Amino acid sequence: MSTYEPRHWKDRESLRMHSANKGGLSNPKLVAVSNPISFANPKAPVYPRLALGKAWDEMTVTWTSGYDINEAVPFVEWGPSGGRKTRSPAGTLTFNRNSMCGEPARTVGWRDPGFIHTSFLKELWPNQRYAYRLGHILVNGSYIWSKKYSFKASPYPGQNSLQRVIIFGDMGKAERDGSNEYANYQPGSLNTTDQLIKDLDNYDIVFHIGDLPYANGYISQWDQFTAQVQEISSAVPYMIASGNHERDWPNSGSFFDTHDSGGECGVPAETMYYFPAENRAKFWYKADYGMFRFCIADSEHDWRQGSEQYEFIEHCLATVDRKQQPWLIFSAHRPLAYSSNDWYGKEGSFEEPEGREHLQKLWQKYKVDIAFYGHVHNYERVCPIYQNQCVNSEKTHYSGTVNGTIHVVVGGGGSHLSDYTPSPPVWSLYRDHDFGFGKLTAFNHSYLLFEYKKSSDGKVYDYFTISRDYRDVLACVHDGCEKTTLAS
Ligand SMILES: [Fe+2]
Repeated sequence: MSTYEPRHWKDRESLRMHSANKGGLSNPKLVAVSNPISFANPKAPVYPRLALGKAWDEMTVTWTSGYDINEAVPFVEWGPSGGRKTRSPAGTLTFNRNSMCGEPARTVGWRDPGFIHTSFLKELWPNQRYAYRLGHILVNGSYIWSKKYSFKASPYPGQNSLQRVIIFGDMGKAERDGSNEYANYQPGSLNTTDQLIKDLDNYDIVFHIGDLPYANGYISQWDQFTAQVQEISSAVPYMIASGNHERDWPNSGSFFDTHDSGGECGVPAETMYYFPAENRAKFWYKADYGMFRFCIADSEHDWRQGSEQYEFIEHCLATVDRKQQPWLIFSAHRPLAYSSNDWYGKEGSFEEPEGREHLQKLWQKYKVDIAFYGHVHNYERVCPIYQNQCVNSEKTHYSGTVNGTIHVVVGGGGSHLSDYTPSPPVWSLYRDHDFGFGKLTAFNHSYLLFEYKKSSDGKVYDYFTISRDYRDVLACVHDGCEKTTLAS
């Protein structure tokens, strides 16, 4: 090994390298020990991650350091590229072993996460490029600085310009040298990350819709993940959703009583990343990005009619002005509508049970264009559909009236792949058993392109377009308009 990059902020204390190549993993033999190595500043600020704030003209910057607030004051120095710099304060959060719900997170998986800082950069000018760096003022008055980074501020909601969005789920993390990766559980992770880093100039925002590091209660893996995506997350907003591997734990209020979070019960995800939810323990939020409105749901909490989340989803879908923001996107981690993944096929539901039964009325009434899901580790595209029926026979170039939502599973971000039912249902238009991610391109208010790209080569393997005008969104379709009066 010629270079060493610490994967956990605490790993930056002094260490010795032990080389044990002979005998392989099953029978390692120590062949050499290095001199002690130490890091210049083990507490230095690392892993910047941008996210949209609650307002369209706000960007949040979150990072990790070893500095508690009584040791140093965290802030972001920022300003228009080449222009005057200003400073904004950052808040500091952390969590401790007692914040975890069970083991291994509370026991052998526990690692001190350090301190998580978030600064809110406000009153940004649309599309302006801003430079920034992370800072800490020590008690003795000296400064600690991160490297310099930059981002482009969001477009004004409704603004007519090119807007490009990456969306995928279930990426996880992996070791570059293939070491220390139990069961090689997320084999596609580095390919996806590397493609997105290579293509950074060609998209504006990322949605990673749940199952982020698969830390499963081994807290240091959060740092491994935030380190792996930092080239992306420091340059464009990295928006997340909650997955079962972030949240689920018995008797903790999650909708599913499984052990999938390894005792984390959502705490690391909700602290390590900012997202513009009213209450970050309830992982649902809206995000406006130019001509897009995203309604991000939380499939690990009750979404059924009558629930608090259902009310949020309806409010999010109902409050967007479609003439300015025509592209209405719904997303959740689990496929709440359609997937021909084999386990859903065996259940006979072809979805996460109780998904579309409760939500399809809302998607139809508010004419959601596309809904994205992860959880199932493959790619699948469904026809525009309502109540199990394809409502449009077109396969690729949709135009005119919005008469049904297109559902897309983009869960092939990196975790081991999921199998399909042997024969695809009629509503399944394209399936790909490989690692990949989705890309949405809004060219203007009337033309949207969706592309599915493989992580291995970054090339497009499936796509569709939507071209339509505002009147096509207003047009009344089945269950899509309030009943009109008969009076003339
Ligand atoms: Fe999942």
